[in-house]
Amino acid sequence: MTNEIIQKWREGAGKVYLPEELDAREPLVREILELKKEKNAIILGHNYMTPDVYHGISDVVGDSLELARRSKESNADIILFNGVHFMAETAKILNPSRKVLIADLKAGCSLAESMTGEDVRQLRRQYPGVPIVSYINCTADVKTEVDIICTSANAVRIVESLDSDTVLVVPDGYLAQNIQKQTKKKIIPWPGKCMVHELYTEFDVDVARKSFPQAKIIAHPECKETVTAKVDFTGSTSQMGKYIRESGADQVLLMTECSMGDNLRAEFPKVSFISSCQTCPHMKKITLEKVRDALRDEKYEIELSDDTIKRARASLDRMLAVV
Ligand code: 13P
Ligand code: SF4
Repeated sequence: MTNEIIQKWREGAGKVYLPEELDAREPLVREILELKKEKNAIILGHNYMTPDVYHGISDVVGDSLELARRSKESNADIILFNGVHFMAETAKILNPSRKVLIADLKAGCSLAESMTGEDVRQLRRQYPGVPIVSYINCTADVKTEVDIICTSANAVRIVESLDSDTVLVVPDGYLAQNIQKQTKKKIIPWPGKCMVHELYTEFDVDVARKSFPQAKIIAHPECKETVTAKVDFTGSTSQMGKYIRESGADQVLLMTECSMGDNLRAEFPKVSFISSCQTCPHMKKITLEKVRDALRDEKYEIELSDDTIKRARASLDRMLAVV
């Protein structure tokens, strides 16, 4: 079984790393597989993990919505979340009795850091009666204060599900712009930004179109509305893969985090991926070495108070009841 997993790992990561690089990393991957068995642990991996962390060792890979949902389906004693801190917090909120670990506590997110629980309380005072939707890229503290959570995969549906003509959408101002294009409700945004996706401009799309007229251009809804208005498809990280599969594209340019294209190369060997990516320094903090150390030493544990879990869970459960 281990050899089969190693083979799968080598095939996936081998789209990006040289055989010598794979040889150097393989002992770590074997150690991680052993530790997972010994500790009855599962690994959830976000689509932005580097290919050596994404393939083989992850039990589940996906976007924020899929990982939140799937985290509840296992009976593992330990959940190691390979992604960023707010994602590990979400797994803890949904699995309060399990030990939830993240390999580096500094794997943050510019969106999550742009807003506090007090900011949400202030908005409530400023806009009494207006429901507040928060993008899942927020702290547990913010999750305790808002009415409902959304992700990049379900944001419009969540907004549409609310019985109000006006909706506050926090903390991602560009996601709010992208939702506004698809709803008649009035969206009031918060000015948070993803430090990775905000780098893409309309000009980048124009240059890409001219240089690669056959390519399908795909963006994440954390990009500005002026960017998403010009691309062929906008969606969550998992929806990007689905679009490539269903559109039959043979040349693709992704306006998102670099590992997304690297990981999709394994799934779509016939598709040519044109590099136009930006790196998320937070996601890149998760390395094979740190994953091994996290499992071996059972660190770093996500700890939240019972009250935070209860209140943040309510806003996540409301989302999960809609989609
Ligand atoms: P997804 O939910 O689309 O995977 O997005 C998470 C994220 O952090 C994108 O920057
Ligand atoms: Fe946050 Fe952007 Fe990194 Fe995603 S890519 S974790 S939104 S900083």
